[in-house]
Order: sequence, then C-alpha cells, then structure tokens
Amino acid sequence: MLFSKKIGLYFVKQFIIYSRKQFGSVLFTFAHQNKTDKNIKTNYIKMADNKTFTMIKPDAVSAGNSGAIIKMIEENGFKIKAMKYTRLSLERAGQFYEIHKERPFYKDLCAYMSSGTIIPIILEKENAIESFRTLIGATNPQEAAEGTIRNLFAESISANAIHGSDSDENAEIEGNFFFPEIEKF
Ligand code: CMP
Repeated sequence: MLFSKKIGLYFVKQFIIYSRKQFGSVLFTFAHQNKTDKNIKTNYIKMADNKTFTMIKPDAVSAGNSGAIIKMIEENGFKIKAMKYTRLSLERAGQFYEIHKERPFYKDLCAYMSSGTIIPIILEKENAIESFRTLIGATNPQEAAEGTIRNLFAESISANAIHGSDSDENAEIEGNFFFPEIEKF
C-alpha cells in the first residue's frame, strides 16, 4: 500500500514538472513572437521614406551597361535591398505603367519594356527618391545633366536606360510589384 502511494506521488511530481516546462515554453514563444513582430513593424516604418525603386531598362541591359550603372548607384551611397534579372510580359508591363494609360506613348512604352531583360532593384539611402532622381537625370537624355546615368547611358526618351520612382508611395507600390517580402533584404 505504502509502495503504491509512493509510485502515485512520483507520477504526480513528474506530471507537475512536465506541465511547468510545457507552459513555460508556450509563454516564452508567445513573448518572443510578439517582440519580433514589434521589431518588424518598427523597422518598416523607420525605413519607408529612405527607399526608392529603380529598374535598369532593356536598352541598358542589352548594351552591357548594367554593371557600370550598378557601380555608379553603389558609389553614390545607395544600398541594394533587393535585385533580380527578369523580363516583363506585355500584360505585366501594361500593369506596371497603368498610370500612363492615357498617354500617347503608352503602347510603345509597354512594347519596349517587355522587349528584353530588365533589372528591378530596391535601394536604400537617406532622402532616396530625390537623391536618386538627381543621379539618373531628366527623363529625356538630351536634357539630362552631365555625368548623370541617363546622360551617360540613355539612347532616347523611351529607351532611357533607367527608371526612378517619383514618390515614397510609388516606390512602395513599384517595389512590391516585383518583390515579395521574403526577397527584400
Ligand atoms: P520613366 O520615367 O522611367 O517611366 C515612364 C516612361 O515613359 C519614361 O521613363 C519614359 O521612358 C517614357 N516617356 C515619358 N515621356 C515620353 C514621351 N514623350 N515619349 C516617349 N516615351 C516617354
């Protein structure tokens, strides 16, 4: 009788130890996850206005100028947060340039942008939008300041080597068009 009571007590004790461990680890996981979620949200808000989106266009890629352009971008203090080598279908180009749908050059622009390889990139730097637009120069390469990317590498107003977002909001939309969250570093 005393022996079976001892065995009973032993199992109750083991059960209490096991339960404590399990409950403790659930609490830890919950607290850790909560902290991680908060960090992600804080970083996201902090970095949003320091980002821009760019795309090296088919003319610059096919001319073998992408390496020189990326070098210029990095030398000007931009950090690459996401980058890939890809192509746009005519339909996807139409979606990307939806904002220009009513412009007379829309059809040609979409045909051109889906004609070859492109390199979409997300960049980070303080005052990223303005700083990057200064680096690439005016849309029309004939008007682009000396030493800018379009002045050095663009062929024409439609084949103008590189794109640069014009606002924080568009940088976010355009970056998300090409990159899922997991591909942004
Ligand atoms: P980007 O600013 O990267 O995105 C819109 C593009 O439309 C622009 O580059 C030019 O390549 C193109 N674009 C703008 N204006 C004209 C125009 N008048 N004629 C042809 N293409 C244009």
